[in-house]
Amino acid sequence: MSSPINTMLIESRVFNPPKEFAAQARISGMAQYSALCEEAARDPDAFWRKMAESELVWRKPFTKVLDESDAPFYTWFEDGELNVSENCLDVHLNNGNADKIAIIFESDDGSVQTVTYGELHARVCRIANGIRALGYGMGDRAILYMPMSVEAIATMQACARLGLVHSVVFGGFSARSLHQRIVDVGARLVLTADAQMRGGRRIPLKEAVDEALGYEGGDVVRNVVVYQRAGGEVQWVEGRDVWLHDLEQNQPEQCEPVSVPAEHPLFVLYTSGSTGKPKGVQHSSAGYLLWTKLTTQWTFDATPEDVFWCTADVGWVTGHSYIVYGALAAGLTQVVFEGVPTYPHAGRYWEMIQRHKVTIFYTAPTAIRSLIKASEQEPMHHPGRYDLSSLRLLGSVGEPINPEAWMWYYENVGASRCPVVDTWWQTETGGHILTPLPGATPLKPGSCTLPLPGIDAAVVDEAGNELPTGAGGLLVIRRPWPAMIRAVWGDPARYRNSYFPEELRGMYMAGDNAQRDEDGYFWILGRTDDVLSVSGHRLGGTEIESALVAHELVAEAAVVGRPDATTGEAVVAFIMLKQAAPAGDEAETIAEYLRDWVAQQVGPIAKPRDIRFGNSLPKTRSGKIMRRLLRLVAEGRDIDQDTSTLENPDVLKQFSGVY
Ligand code: WT7
Repeated sequence: MSSPINTMLIESRVFNPPKEFAAQARISGMAQYSALCEEAARDPDAFWRKMAESELVWRKPFTKVLDESDAPFYTWFEDGELNVSENCLDVHLNNGNADKIAIIFESDDGSVQTVTYGELHARVCRIANGIRALGYGMGDRAILYMPMSVEAIATMQACARLGLVHSVVFGGFSARSLHQRIVDVGARLVLTADAQMRGGRRIPLKEAVDEALGYEGGDVVRNVVVYQRAGGEVQWVEGRDVWLHDLEQNQPEQCEPVSVPAEHPLFVLYTSGSTGKPKGVQHSSAGYLLWTKLTTQWTFDATPEDVFWCTADVGWVTGHSYIVYGALAAGLTQVVFEGVPTYPHAGRYWEMIQRHKVTIFYTAPTAIRSLIKASEQEPMHHPGRYDLSSLRLLGSVGEPINPEAWMWYYENVGASRCPVVDTWWQTETGGHILTPLPGATPLKPGSCTLPLPGIDAAVVDEAGNELPTGAGGLLVIRRPWPAMIRAVWGDPARYRNSYFPEELRGMYMAGDNAQRDEDGYFWILGRTDDVLSVSGHRLGGTEIESALVAHELVAEAAVVGRPDATTGEAVVAFIMLKQAAPAGDEAETIAEYLRDWVAQQVGPIAKPRDIRFGNSLPKTRSGKIMRRLLRLVAEGRDIDQDTSTLENPDVLKQFSGVY
């Protein structure tokens, strides 16, 4: 359990919602926020029923709201039926908004393409018809390994239209990781692109798919659909591979949405946990869609007049919830960007906000911190050099935002007039959980503030008792909510053990430490497990360790995170080779070699920043690796605690060399 830290003393300023913002906001003032919270707490069933009936179009109405009889395996709106894609597209066509722009797509090289709701609907229908013509339907699993593109969004929507379960794998993962996910989810269909373009570089994707399908069990896949994005040679397997443009050609622009049960899995998204094997987080159709739509409207105060830009990749949950589902369900116009924030220069984001008149901008602390640094080095690309007057709201997600970065964002990007919503949530929660409401909540830089209406969050000790103000403990959610994870794909026991430990008597355990201040505000203190957050990407320390020990040179490995001013955390690997610990040039060479190995096994995003070699790892007498000590070593801090319980106390000195 972490000791209390007075984070709130570091930055004690409070920012009230600007009057003009509050005046027009959907949820305006704390009284309205509290009223909604009370309404939800008083009669949750009635509250969620009202929301689900007013926000979603049902093909078959539900009668029951929440079924807790098999807790923690909850079901929501279970006897109802709907189609997610119909709720994201057809509803807008039926409201006379076929010509409204759904997507402003800006490619890596700066060219821009706009797509209306009518055009997106037609595209989704053609792709869906093509997928159906290949013989796939309700319940089949499709893996997507695609770049940020209109095609990725349309393909996910096409899956939803047919009731296929999609599982998107981020393009930064390797062929090995892709293979693992294909096999685990049992995908018969893979959708990919020839390559992706990022920062002026062509990064092959189809090649990795070919490699993945060559590994054991990869032959479950019957078809690979390839979006031609970058041009150039690709290998082709006749009978298996199909170009996306051929798949769509001659398909009708109408495709009747398939009615699916509310609990039908919409997607499975793999995320790192505390073992080597990633967890397939399974989400529902109705509950997930309801919450992503509602939170898009509440947290971002978004309306169809807004130009919304979420910079996340569709390979992560943020892209799923706020680009592909939330923003479309809410009928927004949104910017979708293929590239990276620093190409061709560090002002790319600001230039794009100016060009597309973005009103709501949602990004990650890592991006903010790297742009702070870049704008110091390239002052001409400081946000102050651009016209950002269209902005009315800023958002942050993925990791704690330090008060300094918060202030810079607020002052330099938002010109001290845009609220900043620091949204805390997880792949498992499906959508926002702790977040300010921009027209209501007074902001404190560094705090994700308060739970949304309908969310019963708390900080408890290991026995599940609520802790007093200022005490650090486990962040839990005590009541189910519609967008919560439904299962770990194929592993019900892991779902129960990971999220609903017996000691907590039915509470959802988030895996984060937190504390609350005197106003009840939540401050996130970090993870309770070995999960690292690097540039807002969640990585399993254990997963990287397994990759390292799979190498023939490595005997043992321990991976920890060390704080990094830009990326949040950096991966540090402590390695015991089968040979004696190397030094100098030899160590340098082996370290480089092992980095490439991790990139191949897990993906380039998981490459250790620092590698340290020793002749053993520090262990307790019972054989547990002392990661807590390794974290201190990784940070270059003195070991101030007693190491006498270690099996081998001298080992720590050995790890001084950093490669
Ligand atoms: C973990 C979840 C949420 C979508 C992207 C990441 C950390 C996330 C915040 C925040 C402090 C945050 C937590 C959480 N996290 N947002 N606003 N403040 N920490 O989703 O990959 O499932 O990671 O990210 O540690 O548990 P994810």
